[in-house]
Amino acid sequence: MHDPADPSSLRPAKRDLVSIDDFSNQEILELFKLAHEMGRDLRAWSHLCGGFILASLFYEASTRTRLSFESAMGRLGGRVISAADMSSSSASKGESLADTVRVVGGSYADVIILRHPCEGAAKVAAEYAAVPVVNAGDGSHEHPTQTLCDLYSLWVEKGSLEGLTVVLVGDLRYSRTVHSFAYALARFRANLVFVPHPGLELPSYVLERLGRRQAYEPQHVTLRDFPDVSRDADVVYCTPQKPHQLSLFTEVTELDVPSYDALYVTRPQIERFVRDGGRAPERYLRIEPHTMAGKKFKATSLMHPLPRTGEIAYEMDKDPRSIYFAQAARGVHVRMALISVLLGRSSFKSPPPERVADGDEVVGSPLSCANPTCISSKEAHLGSRFRIDSRRPFRVRCAFCETERPVGFVGDRERRTAWRSGAPEAADVRAEEMVLFESDEQVQRAAFAN
Ligand code: NCD
Repeated sequence: MHDPADPSSLRPAKRDLVSIDDFSNQEILELFKLAHEMGRDLRAWSHLCGGFILASLFYEASTRTRLSFESAMGRLGGRVISAADMSSSSASKGESLADTVRVVGGSYADVIILRHPCEGAAKVAAEYAAVPVVNAGDGSHEHPTQTLCDLYSLWVEKGSLEGLTVVLVGDLRYSRTVHSFAYALARFRANLVFVPHPGLELPSYVLERLGRRQAYEPQHVTLRDFPDVSRDADVVYCTPQKPHQLSLFTEVTELDVPSYDALYVTRPQIERFVRDGGRAPERYLRIEPHTMAGKKFKATSLMHPLPRTGEIAYEMDKDPRSIYFAQAARGVHVRMALISVLLGRSSFKSPPPERVADGDEVVGSPLSCANPTCISSKEAHLGSRFRIDSRRPFRVRCAFCETERPVGFVGDRERRTAWRSGAPEAADVRAEEMVLFESDEQVQRAAFAN
């Protein structure tokens, strides 16, 4: 409703890009057409965003993402304010992310680009900032604008995004680019082949989300097409339809696809597994000319979000199938298009995505997220928020970082009673009345009967 005393009530609702699922497929394709047009003459758009300011808040290292956003804003005629090293900002004095973005998204800037080491940080920023927030990477969770660049490159190279067969290799656990890319590819009905470095398998919440939203079913398979890479890997194959020849998780079947459209390679995210107490992996994969010599790789685009740290031999750079530098260059085109849309200077004709029914939310329980790098673990004022994935068996995941969280007891606020999470009564508690507990002790402390 328009309030004449408040001119901002005339503004259309802000759009954030926290997850790749925030844009519909049609919107993504419209964005690519605009990016393509912009890419034809990068200097022709400097009238578009004059008078607007972009803030880049980078709590983690970045070269391409930050510079390409800043370059994109410059090419659109806007200005950039940048906190590229948050150790010199008030975050180092203990300011919360919520407070920082409330201030920056006030009179300082019209759009915020945020990179943060905590999973769920961009969601929090989007909830607190008055201006659009773009997730430029939140911990090991998502990186939707890298996905837009990756998909755009495939769209340019292949002419279409429907039904591609894409292999994702390397550190699938901590690579946020892989997670967002897989969600997007699945929406375009791709066949996905996950080839993790042993121990760095895709998190279960990613596979679950592919299943929940796209009806993808994972199958464990063996793969002989590039043995150097897949040797000890637990290869998982996900397709839109249930393939009758493969049976779910029971039997290891050899994967046989006619060809691969793309091979997406990621570096080991050493900074993240060292933080989690792990060690740098030994014998990490390396793509050499002989890796892609087979017939099935004839038209395979070799992709990498960069930076590379040895996973792709330099000899591959001259190979016409290698598109990683083009991928990075196109990032400016895509980000120009994105900024102009978020600032309302270009608009989509297609409708936004339909909201997915993604489980009821349970807010403010004593149970907290067990992921130490979840934003809710770092910033206590956020409290806990969980989504109910299933009631029988009872399963929840953190609404910030999506990590599954075991629950000890489920309480009913009205009846002040709690039951073990496996009990039939627990499954029937209404989400608005629900309180989640880790232990008997927490139940006692809250003075619930059990
Ligand atoms: C990626 C990232 O930051 O997640 N880099 C990027 O944005 N191009 C990939 C990486 O760091 O490995």
